[in-house]
Amino acid sequence: MTGRPRPDRSRWYGRRRGHKLGKGRQYLLDTLLPRLRLLPPEDGLLDLYSIFPKPPEDIWLEVGFGGGEHLAAQARAYPGIGFIGCEPFVNGVAALLARIEGEGISNIRIYDDDARLLFDCLPVACFGRVFILFSDPWPKKRHHRRRFIGSETLGDLARLMKDGAEVRFASDDEDYVAWTLEHFIRHSCFAWTARRPHDWRRRPHNGFETRYEIKALARGAACIYLCFIRRSRR
Ligand SMILES: C[S@@+](CC[C@H](N)C(=O)[O-])C[C@H]1O[C@@H](n2cnc3c(N)ncnc32)[C@H](O)[C@@H]1O
Repeated sequence: MTGRPRPDRSRWYGRRRGHKLGKGRQYLLDTLLPRLRLLPPEDGLLDLYSIFPKPPEDIWLEVGFGGGEHLAAQARAYPGIGFIGCEPFVNGVAALLARIEGEGISNIRIYDDDARLLFDCLPVACFGRVFILFSDPWPKKRHHRRRFIGSETLGDLARLMKDGAEVRFASDDEDYVAWTLEHFIRHSCFAWTARRPHDWRRRPHNGFETRYEIKALARGAACIYLCFIRRSRR
């Protein structure tokens, strides 16, 4: 792979591979992924509006798309939007590729690594919406610094999001929800949109379920949905 040398990967603690892939999925990784993969340029910034077949109305990001159920559903529902999906777990990437091919989806591009490595190569105010759904909660206290949500990531999101853009976060882990609320509320660039409990107890009306959400609901866990708006820069 060519492109900008990748920064230190030591911050990544998740799994990169699961069970051995079948021939079909491996074939998609070898043939379709190279056509859809985002490569950070050697110099300068990535122009996200030029990487889709036609210039999108807006660009939305999903961090940690897992098997891609939610990302594919959003891409089908909003064909005018360009979607960037970040996921370092190869089996998840292969599952998304199968959906893209099977459903003829043309408005998704993939960064198959830690989303934070992509952030440095992106222009200011490029995203109109960001999804962070059932992000790994890293429940042990000594592992909290591995969480995707943190002051550094929020600084990146504040830079990359347009004024008025939304971050949608969901989790069934109470402690991670409290941690996330605390980080966003403390950050001067974001405002929590909830007005009443209904707003955090129900999935947003134009959201789609994810695999982890289905599993959490099936075992009787409560899922919490948080939405934050990027405040205006003026
Ligand atoms: C618990 S799974 C949830 C997957 C999916 N969002 C769902 O709800 O079914 C979290 C996913 O986030 C991915 N992930 C964790 N940290 C990430 C990061 N820094 N950049 C991109 N993906 C990340 C993991 O590889 C994993 O697939």
